[in-house]
Amino acid sequence: SLVDKANYRHFMAKEIHEQPEVVGHTLARYIDMATERVSLPVDLPFDFREIKRVSIIACGTANYAGYIGKYWLERLARLPVEIDIASEFRYREAPLGEGDLAIFISQSGETADTLAALRYAKQHGLHTLSIVNVTTSTIARESETMLQTLAGPEIGVASTKAFTCQLMVLATLAIAAGKARGELSEEDESRLVHGLIEIPRLMSEALATEPQIDKLAREIAKSRDVLYLGRGTSYPLALEGALKLKEISYIHAEGYAAGELKHGPIALIDENMPVVVIAPYDRVFEKTVSNMQEVAARGGNIILMTDAKGAAEATIESLVTIILPDMAATFVALVYAIPMQLLAYHTAVVMGTDVDQPRNLAKSVTVE
Ligand code: G6P
Repeated sequence: SLVDKANYRHFMAKEIHEQPEVVGHTLARYIDMATERVSLPVDLPFDFREIKRVSIIACGTANYAGYIGKYWLERLARLPVEIDIASEFRYREAPLGEGDLAIFISQSGETADTLAALRYAKQHGLHTLSIVNVTTSTIARESETMLQTLAGPEIGVASTKAFTCQLMVLATLAIAAGKARGELSEEDESRLVHGLIEIPRLMSEALATEPQIDKLAREIAKSRDVLYLGRGTSYPLALEGALKLKEISYIHAEGYAAGELKHGPIALIDENMPVVVIAPYDRVFEKTVSNMQEVAARGGNIILMTDAKGAAEATIESLVTIILPDMAATFVALVYAIPMQLLAYHTAVVMGTDVDQPRNLAKSVTVE
């Protein structure tokens, strides 16, 4: 066939390992390497200064990419952003501002709910921009502006490389919007773009945690439930980590905002439920540490995903600490996505599930 597994046991493993390369290709499409400035490959048919609100609409993993994109657009461009599940967007009859922007994210470009939401947005006079991997797809064709992810064909049903490529496009789009709206200076832009250029190398470093994560997966495979916690962009990443695990290992997993732990899931904490905490050393690190203390005090086993600084500062007894590279805080999700994917993958391999074709799931869902 056109696409093979090379030397990997599963497409998913191959696709996880391809990320430094395809994320780098995607970045190269959206920046000018020589000047280290964002340079979108298309002219936008709207002016970011005139957009009052952005709606980001997608399903599954693409929805979580959009959720992270929301944090970036709000932070870097001071744009109010709503994130929506495609199947909810249409029927809620939310007030929409004519001339505002709706962004649709889809690997396949054929997801029925996302397509229906796109048509609905067009009917309501919104500008429509899609971020798609398959450029010949219906969503790509029907949206006013199309931004391509250069992930290449993704075969594993559980999305991995398409997700990080979606993040890369959203990161550059947020910088472009911040620039257009006068929220970012040229120095800000170069600093941020420079940070993005580092990402493929940092992703390769994150892939080096694989032997440690493989070992950890043997423990996770014994669990019935796993909780994932994070703050900031690590919150939607926690949702994605939990989704990956349940999709392919069939272990129940839940992602939660770390600060919300005390409002419910803390009741579930005991020695049998591992808690994956995504906590790079950033401005909310201390808060996440206090949430970890709440877990530890109840006998919970913590798997801490952090950097060297975070590992040194977190004086909590944790089951395992996975140390990820030091990097600028804004775009950490691109790098921390890797241990999430590896953990789900290796747990599924231990469980002996059909990793690339999990039961009941389809690569592209063309029914509403
Ligand atoms: C299915 C797949 C997921 C994917 C979602 C959205 O549920 O199993 O991996 O994230 O559809 O697909 P799309 O092609 O629109 O990104």
